[in-house]
Amino acid sequence: MNFSLNSKTLVNTKADCLVVALPEKGDWPASTTEADSALGGLISKLQKAGDVSAKIAATSLIPLNDQPWSRLLVIGTGKDEDRPPSSFRKALVAMTGSLKDGPSKTVLIALSDTPVTGDDSARSELAKLSLIGRTLEDQLYTFNDFKSEKPPARKLSKILIAASDTGKAHKEAFNLGLATGRGMNFTRDLGNTPPNICHPVWLAEQASKMASDHDCIKTDILDEKQMQKLGMNSLLAVGRGSSQPSRLIIMEYRGGNAKDKPHVLVGKGITFDTGGISLKPGAGMDEMKYDMGGSAAVFGAMQVLAETRPKINVVAVIASAENMPDGDAARPGDIVTTMSGQTVEILNTDAEGRLVLCDALTYVKKFDPAAVIDLATLTGACIVALGHEATGLLANNDELANELLAAGDRANDKAWRLPLWDEYQNLLDSNFADMANIGGRSAGTITAACFLSRFTKEYRWAHLDIAGTAWHSGKAKGSSGRPVPLLVDYLMSHAGK
Ligand code: BES
Ligand code: MN
Ligand code: ZN
Repeated sequence: MNFSLNSKTLVNTKADCLVVALPEKGDWPASTTEADSALGGLISKLQKAGDVSAKIAATSLIPLNDQPWSRLLVIGTGKDEDRPPSSFRKALVAMTGSLKDGPSKTVLIALSDTPVTGDDSARSELAKLSLIGRTLEDQLYTFNDFKSEKPPARKLSKILIAASDTGKAHKEAFNLGLATGRGMNFTRDLGNTPPNICHPVWLAEQASKMASDHDCIKTDILDEKQMQKLGMNSLLAVGRGSSQPSRLIIMEYRGGNAKDKPHVLVGKGITFDTGGISLKPGAGMDEMKYDMGGSAAVFGAMQVLAETRPKINVVAVIASAENMPDGDAARPGDIVTTMSGQTVEILNTDAEGRLVLCDALTYVKKFDPAAVIDLATLTGACIVALGHEATGLLANNDELANELLAAGDRANDKAWRLPLWDEYQNLLDSNFADMANIGGRSAGTITAACFLSRFTKEYRWAHLDIAGTAWHSGKAKGSSGRPVPLLVDYLMSHAGK
């Protein structure tokens, strides 16, 4: 797909289809008015006659006889009073849906002057260009690697975005949106790849590939022997039941000053979670291939950095293993000594995410991090608590938590904070070791984070539980690419100018 910004007047820009916004009430955006007068008042006529809907995200495709456009796509943008960025995104999703398999080859999208409510950063043309770029990329995603018959190629091949200016700031904002969309799509490719292919060594190869494609990314991969030397017995216990060896994957992007402390991302990379000896029920178990969704989001964010080169230092660490039952698998009752020296009684082998993460979280101390953010499809309880809308956020630092919440709001990729009070910690008491790896039936997301918090005392840390947000179940089954937008927004807000 060819994307570009266009600041010529609409009538001077030829395209097979022009896209404009139509609000239910109130003033029209300037580009809708411009198109209306170029078309001799057609849009007003159609609206009066009820032939186009202005309801939020309604789409009406109207054939035109006139040049410079063969079609007009009218997108409803709803009521004036309530037009947050999330509604604008809804309209963009509907627009892409209507364009992607349609007859138009070239499209001119005149939506960057659509009014959006919110603070200055949400209302600005730059924010809208960024959201348009991201939404186009992410809504045009397909995954057909494993279909023997590929769908026919799309006609749509060139997208022009009307903008008031095509200077550096506008280009950068739009390109960041496109890069974020591509980052999400990379995350989705990884999450959708079947678990007989996507195993820890394959994930490590993706990191090596990224390092060879982008000279700003360096990678280092630790095998089981090297992890054993470091005392990562908890991580290694998870992979023991699998014939696929475990890996610790480290990627570094150093775009900032040498003395700037790095932001560290830690991803859960369980390439398949059967539960181990504490075997999961069979129904829907295929979806546990996305138990590497945290690491996939880390990969997506690193790709965005590699493509946009912000002035920031970021280190990514992925703890990857496959959780399988086997004669050599860890048992309920086993006690392991973590890299930190603390001992853990494994009461349930299905609570394996925290077992791999705790050693990775100990390992990252060596980077002297500005902050550590871990991402994990950690608990089914998070889906019960927050559904599929919000990522669960728990943190040992209010400032960091608020920054991530704000980044999620700005990026339309929301998170919601849950408490991490000391009162919950005793749920992890064990009769035989320093702690158990499960906390019983109540507050499952919180006790999982409490477990992790025992390994993150020496730095600012936040945990994102993405069990509900990284994946779509049902008809649209597949990886969502979340929370790449949140991560990118957070990292960019820390990048130097
Ligand atoms: N990977 C799962 C969590 C999960 C469940 C993610 C459903 C996405 C959808 C995790 O390893 C797990 O099995 N957690 C257990 C923890 C329990 C044993 C304390 C869970 O949530 O049931
Ligand atoms: Mn599990
Ligand atoms: Zn898991």
